[in-house]
Amino acid sequence: MAVRLELVTQDNVREVIDLSVAPGQEEMVAPNAISLAEAYVSTRAWPRAILSDDDLVGFLMVALPTEEHPVWYLWRMMISADHQRSGFGAAAVRLVMEEARSSGATDLYVSWVPGEGGPEPFYRGLGFEPTGEVHGIEVEGKVAL
Ligand SMILES: CC(C)(COP(=O)(O)OP(=O)(O)OC[C@H]1O[C@@H](n2cnc3c(N)ncnc32)[C@H](O)[C@@H]1OP(=O)(O)O)[C@@H](O)C(=O)NCCC(=O)NCCS
Repeated sequence: MAVRLELVTQDNVREVIDLSVAPGQEEMVAPNAISLAEAYVSTRAWPRAILSDDDLVGFLMVALPTEEHPVWYLWRMMISADHQRSGFGAAAVRLVMEEARSSGATDLYVSWVPGEGGPEPFYRGLGFEPTGEVHGIEVEGKVAL
């Protein structure tokens, strides 16, 4: 399994929009069409398709650091229902961690919806710990790089 992050292009944008999470997970992450619309109007979005070999398996989007918010923030993260629990999500987050580290960042931030069936065990398994901040209903976590 070779997981990589690729640009979202005219060739794959429809396929990225069609990716969906499992029933019951819809509250955990915005639909990819919404994320891509936000990327279009944001000055700090870094959207990427997640591929395993040549299969599209997911989508993520980072908010890159700015003067006002000088941190790498994993803003959106999803693996399609039929590709979950195969290690793709963890591999993709590790690629973001490498990217952030190589650009000089010392931490990677994320926030998650807490509770049953949510991604907290996934992030904790990658070393993220709650910072104590809460954004709306979402718990903020960070991992040292
Ligand atoms: C969270 C998500 C991205 C994980 O992706 P994934 O490819 O399934 O995760 P991985 O296979 O890499 O899992 C790595 C480890 O994380 C943990 N993990 C992953 N999903 C989990 C779940 N639903 N419940 C408990 N632990 C989980 C496990 O320890 C797993 O290792 P294991 O399979 O060997 O037990 C995916 O479940 C998803 O898209 N969920 C819906 C959207 C979402 O919640 N996004 C996060 C927004 S903040």
